[in-house]
Order: sequence, then C-alpha cells, then structure tokens
Amino acid sequence: MSDVSPPTPAEAARTAVVIPAAGRGVRLGPGAPKALRTLNGVPMLIHAVRAMAASRAVGLVVVVAPPDGTAEVKSLLDTHALPDRTDFVVVSGGETRQESVRAGLDALPPEYGIVLVHDAARPLVPVDTVDAVIEAVREGAVAVVPALPLADTVKEVEPAAAPGDPEPVLATPERARLRAVQTPQGFDRATLVRAHETVTGAVTDDAGMVERLGEPVVAVPGHEEAFKVTRPLDLVLAEAVLARRRLNDGF
Ligand code: CTP
Ligand code: MG
Repeated sequence: MSDVSPPTPAEAARTAVVIPAAGRGVRLGPGAPKALRTLNGVPMLIHAVRAMAASRAVGLVVVVAPPDGTAEVKSLLDTHALPDRTDFVVVSGGETRQESVRAGLDALPPEYGIVLVHDAARPLVPVDTVDAVIEAVREGAVAVVPALPLADTVKEVEPAAAPGDPEPVLATPERARLRAVQTPQGFDRATLVRAHETVTGAVTDDAGMVERLGEPVVAVPGHEEAFKVTRPLDLVLAEAVLARRRLNDGF
C-alpha cells in the first residue's frame, strides 16, 4: 500500500467511499445483519450507498459486507437503481469495524486521493453534508469529521463494577466545547492508510486514529439526519424521516 507513486493533481481530487457494513447489529435485536434490514422496504445499506453516490464527486463506493453476505450484497447492488457515474466494489469485512474499514482501504485502486468512510448504519445523511466533507479535504484538511453540538450535558464517571450500581462522577466537560461526531469522515487517502497501518488499540472512529498520528483533524457542521441507527427506536425515526421526505418531494 505504501509503495504507491504520488498522485497527479487530478487523482488527488478523486473521491472514493468505504462503507463498513459488516456489523451484526446486536443492539438492534435479533434479525438480519443491520445493514441488510430494511427502511420503507429498501435495505439500509442501499440507502447509505445512494446517499454517497448522490455526490457528483464520488467515483467509487467500496461496500464492506458481512463475511457470509457478500453475494447477497452484490445482488442488492445489482437490483437497486444507482447512478451510472459511480463504480461499486464489494469486499468481505472483519471482526471489528476497524478491520472492516481496513479491508475496504485495501481494495481501493491507486487513482483516488480522497477517501470517505461512512457507516452503513447512517443511511439518511444528506448529500450536502457529504459534499461539505469532501470540499474541506479538497481545500487541504487531512481529516474532516461532520459534528453537531450536544443537547445533553455530558459527565465523565468511574464506570460501575456491577451493572446498575451508582457511578461516581469525576468531571463535567464544558458542553459548548463538545461535539457528537458522525460520518462520512473524509481523509487524505495516504494519511488514513498510514493511520490504519500504524495505530493499534481500540479507537472508535477513523479520525481518532489520525489524531493518534498527531495529524490535525477538523470538524464541519454535521446534520441531524446523519444519526446512526443503533437501537429499535432509531428504525422508527428513520422511517419517519423518509416519510417526511416523500411528503416534501410531493410538493
Ligand atoms: N461494522 C463493520 N464491521 C464490524 C463491525 C461494525 O463493518 N465488524 C460497521 C457496521 O456495519 C456499521 C458501522 O460499522 O455500519 C458502525 O457500527 P455499529 O453502528 O456499531 O454497527 P454494528 O456493529 O452492526 O452494531 P452493534 O454494535 O449494535 O452490533
Ligand atoms: Mg458495533
């Protein structure tokens, strides 16, 4: 991966997206892998792929599928309408999100200088958010996260030894300085690859790995509709967002 020759300026601006979609969705409860569960009859993954391919800057989408679901994902991509200008590749995922993202990065052809990483579990992110992330990378940021201010106050605690025990509060960070981060996160490709090659240990997002390299990460405005489908109630919210969009499109 590191013996790639330096990209030409045109290549440096080309954007590929890696969509990790290999998780089981344990918190959603029993059923198909989360990315294959449907919202208004369409698999969450297809919504996520369409959200990425809606950006004219995106030339390639790499879907990282559940290891036992690559054939199913390929056939889903074949049977749902997707823009012609975008190429699609399916690879098999790993045990952790980090491994899955890495499998996606390994599948990228050399001609893409910008990489976005987007959770299949955020199927409804608006294209304006995708474009804002790409634009910030094009303007020179090595790592970009979409982020929103928090509604709740956040406390740092000493986690309980047994579930349900009271937890001592250690600190209350100033809420105005905190952000909830979403995806797609955007990167200079070489920097993200270096992060995945060198950073070890649990990191919960890709930008966090770039931070570990000591490289600067910037936040741009995220969007409420880029929320992550995690628990059953999130499915209700996602279908409500789709219903509202359908209504608005009718006018
Ligand atoms: N993911 C992945 N490979 C894994 C684990 C997660 O590609 N081994 C992906 C998920 O498919 C999802 C994204 O990473 O699109 C964010 O993860 P999360 O929301 O935690 O999804 P799951 O891991 O599937 O859900 P849960 O943690 O409830 O099992
Ligand atoms: Mg998970």
